[in-house]
Amino acid sequence: MQIADGIVYVGVDDHELDLFEGQYIVPNGMAYNSYVILDEKVAVMDGVDQNFVDEWLGKVEVALGGRTPDYFVVQHMEPDHSAGITAFMDKYPEAVIVATVGAFNMMQNYFGTKFQGRNMVVKEGQTLSLGAKELTFIMAPNVHWPEVMFTYDAADKVLFSADAFGKFGALDADEGWDCEARRYYFGIVGKFGKNVQAVLKKVAKLDVEVICPLHGPILSEDLGHYIGLYQTWSAYEVETQGVVIAYTSVYGHTKAAVELLAEKLKEKGCPRVVVTDLARDDQAEAVEDAFRHNILVLATTTYCGGFFPTMHEFISHLEDHDYQKRTIAFVENGSWMPAATKGMKAITDTFTGIEYVENNVTIRGALNDASRAQIDALAAELAAKF
Ligand code: FEO
Repeated sequence: MQIADGIVYVGVDDHELDLFEGQYIVPNGMAYNSYVILDEKVAVMDGVDQNFVDEWLGKVEVALGGRTPDYFVVQHMEPDHSAGITAFMDKYPEAVIVATVGAFNMMQNYFGTKFQGRNMVVKEGQTLSLGAKELTFIMAPNVHWPEVMFTYDAADKVLFSADAFGKFGALDADEGWDCEARRYYFGIVGKFGKNVQAVLKKVAKLDVEVICPLHGPILSEDLGHYIGLYQTWSAYEVETQGVVIAYTSVYGHTKAAVELLAEKLKEKGCPRVVVTDLARDDQAEAVEDAFRHNILVLATTTYCGGFFPTMHEFISHLEDHDYQKRTIAFVENGSWMPAATKGMKAITDTFTGIEYVENNVTIRGALNDASRAQIDALAAELAAKF
């Protein structure tokens, strides 16, 4: 695949992976992107996961057409991109690694060497001429790890964006960008909104026509759409007006309450209602939905004096990814001593910019007239926010 004159895609599709980064389901696989830039000098941009190093090296060799690479640009040291560094450097003994000082420190940790004598440490704004093309390095710390940098090729108006603008799904996946890019963003980079904002400011000064991320498709049309979503996500702003109801239920009574609430919200004209069962549905999707919408209802059972484990897991994901600036409502169930709301609120009180509703719901076992009336009041209060 030709990206631009002299820029060739040499990445791989992974359809074997069970969990990306040990936790994210990837029903449509994963792509590890790598690129070869051919000019008077030749640069290879990043590598791939350990299970695909041989396939990647084969593709690099074909793209090189008998030439040898002068530079191996390592923008990010996470092993889904860096596993093949040693194999690459063994195969191409003339090549020099171009990376940040943080990346070389990580090479020492992973491979026991900083490739002394074959390394070029680069900093913010530093350039590397390949001939007609010149690479400019843009530091992007914590997008997603601290050593990360982007690379800009002004001649072709191509931005190599490391993990940013990536998504779950192999390149041959027949699916849109937004959903799996959002799930990827909030799962992988979501905590680092300020860092993403900082690098977006730098990118805004560049003339970019093509974005080459390390995962997912190469973006070459309607870039404003993708950059706009990254602005929204990294600023923790609301993307879509609507209510997410995240629940757990043991015997179905809390589920019945959630279904009643969802029905009433729809009746009252809520623009969008999303319901997710935290014990059965993908929690990364639930996290993505929580960040996407403006209202979150947490519905769960009292459990061991606190609240249900899968709700703990979900709130812990929100905490990890700096969930903020949203409205939260609680629905608790407790047969003899309801304590779930108190337990959940103790954690959400630590989040930034959270507003609470007045009409939370308490169920004592099964729904009754009193709890149905509470659900009605909560639905009315939430619907009035749109
Ligand atoms: Fe795709 Fe942060 O590695």
